Amino acid sequence: MTSSPDERAFKALTQKITRARGLACGSYKDRCLRRRIAVRMRARGVHTYDDYSRVLDADQQEYDLLLDALTINVTKFFRNIETWQALAPRLAALWTERHGQVRAWSAGCASGEEPYTLAVALAEAARQVGQQTLLGRARVDATDIDRASLERTRAPEFPETAFSEMPPELARRYFTAEPPRRPLPALQRIVRVQKHDLTTQRPPAPPYDLIVCRNVVIYFDRPMQERLFDVFADALAPGGILLLGKVETLFGPARQRLVLEDPRERIYRRSDSPSPRG
Ligand SMILES: C[S@@+](CC[C@H](N)C(=O)[O-])C[C@H]1O[C@@H](n2cnc3c(N)ncnc32)[C@H](O)[C@@H]1O
Repeated sequence: MTSSPDERAFKALTQKITRARGLACGSYKDRCLRRRIAVRMRARGVHTYDDYSRVLDADQQEYDLLLDALTINVTKFFRNIETWQALAPRLAALWTERHGQVRAWSAGCASGEEPYTLAVALAEAARQVGQQTLLGRARVDATDIDRASLERTRAPEFPETAFSEMPPELARRYFTAEPPRRPLPALQRIVRVQKHDLTTQRPPAPPYDLIVCRNVVIYFDRPMQERLFDVFADALAPGGILLLGKVETLFGPARQRLVLEDPRERIYRRSDSPSPRG
């Protein structure tokens, strides 16, 4: 099959981005890439992929702006609060079973609201059983591919808008009162931030009791999604939980190992014994 000049220019452009910045464009959905690149092309007033390629050559900063556009970083604390409410009793049970040594991974953590939601949820699980002082036993790995997001997660300061779905008493209990609001040091101590590309790297420190990967795989093409689900199944401890985004659905071979516990909230649980590969 022959491709049009426009198709060839698009392919050449995405390959160039991958070479220059290591973003595996080939694993992302085509229409998602096109939409985001179009945003930057409009911003720079160019109309063809070739012209935009020349803009990138002339202005290396444009790569940063493009990567910002490609890695959509929208997030907030307790995003879809009902999901976190459904997760709470499961987290409490995990806390008790693991004597506080719960290992969680926020994969695609954006600017830190998700890993700190996890830290708050774990602190609440500990509080329920009078073990607040044991929070330091827990760990939340916060990873993302986007440099700017990681910097914000490392120096966590949040605007009031980030709290719109968070129950106010939790915001009062775990964050400083004055804006910009910061999580308490006890929470900051359990969140470990690192750069990580889900399309090319292995999970940072398996096994995990909980993997939260929400509103990330939606940008990947189907083969990449299927591969990642398998990676998550391998990285979970038996009985561990996978939480996906509200509009994301698990498919492929991982379905044999991850049981759908709550269809509405996309909560899955690893049911089998550890795989020989793991
Ligand atoms: C829409 S945000 C989701 C944030 C958070 N999980 C939530 O649901 O609120 C998507 C995040 O995925 C990250 N991302 C995109 N591609 C990635 C990749 N290949 N590896 C790791 N993170 C990636 C983006 O940088 C962005 O921070």
